[in-house]
Amino acid sequence: MAQKDVGNKVPIYKLKKTDEVMKYYDEWGEENKYDKDMVDWNYTGPKETTEVFIRYNKDKEAKIYDAGCGTGLVGVELKKYGYKNFFGADLSQKLLNLVPKNLYQKLDKVDLNKPIDETDNTFDAVMCVGTFTFGHVKPPALDEFIRITKNKGLICFTINEGIHEEYGFDKKIDQLNNDNKWKEIEFFKSDYIASKDVNAWLGLYEVIK
Ligand SMILES: C[S@@+](CC[C@H](N)C(=O)[O-])C[C@H]1O[C@@H](n2cnc3c(N)ncnc32)[C@H](O)[C@@H]1O
Repeated sequence: MAQKDVGNKVPIYKLKKTDEVMKYYDEWGEENKYDKDMVDWNYTGPKETTEVFIRYNKDKEAKIYDAGCGTGLVGVELKKYGYKNFFGADLSQKLLNLVPKNLYQKLDKVDLNKPIDETDNTFDAVMCVGTFTFGHVKPPALDEFIRITKNKGLICFTINEGIHEEYGFDKKIDQLNNDNKWKEIEFFKSDYIASKDVNAWLGLYEVIK
């Protein structure tokens, strides 16, 4: 798969280390450029994942962990449908500072490649949009998402098509299916950033405990 991802100044696929990724997003947040670029590029990840999520989760009080929430675009979409109980986590404090006030119950600066500081079975759902991409968050994070999600809770995510196999997301998903850790409900190729010819797999899984 060609490394055709977009980014701010340098392409995302050139990022390797967590510190580089953090600096990259901290800079991208300056003068609200990240949000402006997402509008200009017609980035549809948050909208597409929300539209899938609301088909399967009808509880507007659902406690939702937004993993790699950035500036809160997923919360903005979910709020349009009456959801309100969001807990955001992201590596970039600069992007977290741009999340609209009072949209999320809590915002934490975290590295999702490390264990998540939340107790087991805390959330009704995890949303992870745009965060499984080059140099970002790796497949073991899915184990943590399952751990913090309740039985029958939902995990909804995108995986940039360029890393799905290269980073072993395909194998990780097969393993979680085979081990009955979750059940596949949706898995398909979504538009994501179609304007830049970059697509992503969109998955929605029900946790089994
Ligand atoms: C493409 S943005 C997506 C943000 C938001 N979910 C959206 O859809 O607009 C990727 C996000 O992943 C975050 N990120 C990258 N590596 C991370 C890590 N190791 N731990 C937590 N967040 C990370 C970045 O800071 C950035 O906000």
